[in-house]
Amino acid sequence: MNYKLLGRSGLKVSELCLGTMGFGTEAGWGADKDTSFAIMDAYANAGGNFLDTANIYKLGTSEKIIGDYMSHHDRDYFVLATKYTLKDNTTNPNASGNSRKNMMRSVEESLKRLKTDFIDVLYLHIWDDITPIDEVLRGMDDLIKQGKINYAAISDTPAWVVAKGNTLAELMGWSQFIALQVEYSLLARTAERELIPMAKHFGMTVTPWAPLAGGALTGKYLRGDKGRIKPESKRLNSRAEAITKVVVEIAQELGVSESHVALNWTRQQGFSCIPIVGATKVDQLLDNLKTVEVALNDDQLKRLNDASAIELGFPGDFFKEEGVRANTFGGFYDKVEKR
Ligand SMILES: NC(=O)c1ccc[n+]([C@@H]2O[C@H](COP(=O)([O-])OP(=O)(O)OC[C@H]3O[C@@H](n4cnc5c(N)ncnc54)[C@H](OP(=O)(O)O)[C@@H]3O)[C@@H](O)[C@H]2O)c1
Repeated sequence: MNYKLLGRSGLKVSELCLGTMGFGTEAGWGADKDTSFAIMDAYANAGGNFLDTANIYKLGTSEKIIGDYMSHHDRDYFVLATKYTLKDNTTNPNASGNSRKNMMRSVEESLKRLKTDFIDVLYLHIWDDITPIDEVLRGMDDLIKQGKINYAAISDTPAWVVAKGNTLAELMGWSQFIALQVEYSLLARTAERELIPMAKHFGMTVTPWAPLAGGALTGKYLRGDKGRIKPESKRLNSRAEAITKVVVEIAQELGVSESHVALNWTRQQGFSCIPIVGATKVDQLLDNLKTVEVALNDDQLKRLNDASAIELGFPGDFFKEEGVRANTFGGFYDKVEKR
């Protein structure tokens, strides 16, 4: 396992992040405590140090399992990321949302469940479209000053909001968001329109969630195996099936697992990217860890890109039009260095 820097920070995180949304058996799926411990053991033994959880995962059970694990292991070795925003209860209007009040409350509850006195990376989980973004950054900066969190990050938020936040933080001398968590996989590429170019501009690391599309891209549903995805999900529709078939084809050519192909496609897009891989069984994790030993060649990347292509729409596709380029660059487009 190699280590990458998380965004514009000196924080070293392993090149695969372990998603722990499946720690706990609530809602009829997931890993029990013993299996979750075994998954974390296998991950740490391979050099993994970056764990992703949230206050809401399995109604707090994911954080509790990690907390129990941390009390018997070297807390300092791990880079623990959690999130705030989603409801802890439905009786208090301030027990959900992006507000400073909910942030402070949620972090205190997470610290208790995680049995630690600091969180390494705190993500805003999902944008509520009402809280001013300066309230969020100021709150996270205060938590950093209090030593309760080390870094600020953000997930599932429009690009313009994140951009405004990081620009304000720079002007105010607050800590900026260093990582951007978004759904990103061969089945879900819309983050390429605005979010990923924005992350590149700010030097943020993109941490894709569901990089295996919840398991669809492993090809197991094509083989008739079962998993947590419901048959009516768009992750199993005809478009998804056609893309997954290309993944299976390339995996067979390389003699590797489908997950290695799907995960490496996210890792080989030319921007800082650390996929958050979920696993509910030790074997799945051990398989996924081998991803770092595999690389896709240009031809394989092109076949995957072609099979999963989306329209960027306006303005992305407009900028690529020949006439627009001719006018914007006066015929020098091919001779000018690009960012
Ligand atoms: N910020 C957000 O809004 C957000 C949203 C969702 C997730 N997340 C984070 O992202 C992480 C990953 O998301 P995810 O679990 O939805 O996506 P994922 O990594 O695409 O899918 C994980 C699932 O795929 C299956 N799987 C994994 N490895 C496999 C293998 N080698 N062979 C066969 N099946 C395999 C397992 O499903 P089965 O259990 O069905 O076998 C596993 O639960 C989460 O744990 C969480 O930390 C964040």
